[in-house]
Amino acid sequence: MTEAAARTILRAPTPEAWVSSAVERWRELLVDHANCEKKAASTALALMFAYPEDHALTLALSRLAREELRHFEQVQRMMIMLGVAFERQQPGRYASGLRALLRTSEPGRKLDLLLSGALIEARSAERFRLLSGRLQQPLADFYRQLERSEARHFELYVNLAHTAARDRWQERLNVLAEAEAGLAIEPDPVFRFHSGPPAPP
Ligand SMILES: [Fe+2]
Ligand SMILES: [Fe+2]
Repeated sequence: MTEAAARTILRAPTPEAWVSSAVERWRELLVDHANCEKKAASTALALMFAYPEDHALTLALSRLAREELRHFEQVQRMMIMLGVAFERQQPGRYASGLRALLRTSEPGRKLDLLLSGALIEARSAERFRLLSGRLQQPLADFYRQLERSEARHFELYVNLAHTAARDRWQERLNVLAEAEAGLAIEPDPVFRFHSGPPAPP
C-alpha cells in the first residue's frame, strides 16, 4: 500500500484553510508535532501492554514505537536548529474526539484501537505531504520523509485490523472514518496538527 492508498481511507481531504494556517503557524505546529510523535510511540506501547499474547502485533508495534521516538528526536533537533522553544500547549479535540468513539469491551476494543491508529497515521501522512509542498527547507524535506514513514504505519495498522477482524473491519472503519473526517475538516477553536481549520474568533 502506498501513500495514495493512505488517502483512500480518509473520508475528506484536509481543507486548504488548514494548510494555509499551518504554513503561517509552522512554529507552534512543530511543538505540537513533537508531542504527536511521543503520543504515537505511547499508543503503540499501550497496545503492546493490552495484547501481549499477540506476538505479531507486539513485534511490529515495538519497532513502530522506536521509529516514532526517533521521529521525536528529529523534531526536537529541528526545533533547536530553527530556534523554536518548547511551550506547553492545551490538547486539541482530535484525539479525545476519536477516543470517545472507541468501544471499551473486547473484541471490539482491539479492532477500534487499531483502526483509530490507521486513521491517525493516514491523516498524518496526508498532512505531511501537503506541507512538504508548501514549507521552506529544511522542513520540506523532513516532512516528505515523514510522509513515507506515516504511510507505512497506516498500512501496518490496517493489516493488523484486518487480521483482528477479517469480516468486520471495513464496516467499522466506515463509522470511525466518518467521525475522523469531521474532526479534521470542521472549524476548530484550537489549531493543531490534526485539528480542523481555525474557527473564526
Ligand atoms: Fe512519526
Ligand atoms: Fe506514525
